[in-house]
Amino acid sequence: MEFTKTHDAARLRPGMGRVRVCGWVEDVRDMGRVAFLTVRDSTGTVQAVAKGDLSREAASIPRQSSVCVSGTVQGTEARGLDCEVLASSVSVLGRASDRLPIDPTGRVPSLLDARLNARALDARSPRTAAVFVLRHKMLQYMRSRLSERFTEIATPKIIGSASEGGADLFGLEYFGKQAYLAQSPQLYKEQMTMGLERVFEISSFYRAEKSHTGRHLAEFTSVDVEAAFMDYGDVMGVLEDLVSGVFSFAASECGAQLEALGRELEPPPPFERVTYRRAVSELREAGEEVSEGDDLADAHLRVLGESRPGFYFLTDWPTALKPFYIREKDGEPGLSRSFDLQFGHLELSSGGTRLHEAGAMRARLAEQGLDPADFAAHLSAFEWGMPPHSGWGMGLDRLVAAVAGLDNVREAVLYPRDPGRLSP
Ligand code: AMO
Repeated sequence: MEFTKTHDAARLRPGMGRVRVCGWVEDVRDMGRVAFLTVRDSTGTVQAVAKGDLSREAASIPRQSSVCVSGTVQGTEARGLDCEVLASSVSVLGRASDRLPIDPTGRVPSLLDARLNARALDARSPRTAAVFVLRHKMLQYMRSRLSERFTEIATPKIIGSASEGGADLFGLEYFGKQAYLAQSPQLYKEQMTMGLERVFEISSFYRAEKSHTGRHLAEFTSVDVEAAFMDYGDVMGVLEDLVSGVFSFAASECGAQLEALGRELEPPPPFERVTYRRAVSELREAGEEVSEGDDLADAHLRVLGESRPGFYFLTDWPTALKPFYIREKDGEPGLSRSFDLQFGHLELSSGGTRLHEAGAMRARLAEQGLDPADFAAHLSAFEWGMPPHSGWGMGLDRLVAAVAGLDNVREAVLYPRDPGRLSP
């Protein structure tokens, strides 16, 4: 049985002669002696016309079955189409059940949970496919843009001590020893600035967060950058350049995907840099109960996001609110050389200048209740001539959700992992 195609659906043109197209049946219209099949593949749809005896056979094919249609391309009067395939044979390559869990055409809407439970079928929905093609293109852009100045690295995902402090770790048994899934590439990417100077990594990381929000995942993809001889202002510049670049790229190069998502994008204006102190004072003016030194809760970020729906940085956070590796400000140790990148109320990235002296790092670990002995290997690298360095980590899934206009980050992940979801 033939199961290879001569053309993708979107490449068919009148006058091509004999072709073979393969895809899945999106729609069947039985008109008696003639049946029309709408066959979709990853590029688009084609109308196949089956006449005579073939029409019976074609009309009985369950929707979503994979098929191979051989025939001749001809002009058509059908609205919105310039050609169709007059079928000489239609083979069913993979028969779909008559009772499917969701309708990927979206005519019968499904809840997100049902779609995630049937993700392979859901990926046939043009809207879902658009999210993942967009994600792919954004990744391609970012990898190539970062590669101009940074070297891509791969750090271990099975680690012996926490990279982000003790909380939210998945533990596992590793040949009789306690190991963990990496929460980030933090310590390794910092070490690599010693020799490679400017590095980046794009990879999955793991957080055992019992969060049920639309923005937290147990397995997420992080875009990480770390650079020697740069301060936090410099790496904020790298981040702004990348994020506004990817928005402009999506606006100009991902038109078909954005249209499928009903999304219009404009290149963003320069990102405002708002200090934590100013944010707290604005919040207090708005009647929020928050004092300097407090972490900003989701409700606070929502208030800030109302007046700033696009991108902005929140900078110079209290040192105590930031991880142990963040460096304090000169002459103002209560505040740190740190930032978060916000998209409205959504935190997309955080980063800063790092401590790079072993003594300062040991003292900070102790201050935060962490045992320097757990970080012995990392601390030894700090004795080998570690340069000052800065960097950031950005949640790719959240960035895709922001570009695609999705409310729930799970929509931007093929098989999301959260406290309630381990399968499929
Ligand atoms: P942080 O923990 O703030 O910083 O994470 C950086 C960014 O990663 C994304 N992110 C998540 N996305 C989905 N689900 C989660 N559970 C989740 N956790 C984090 C967010 C967040 O802004 N090592 C530092 C970064 C650095 O300083 O270089 C870090 O991991 O978008």
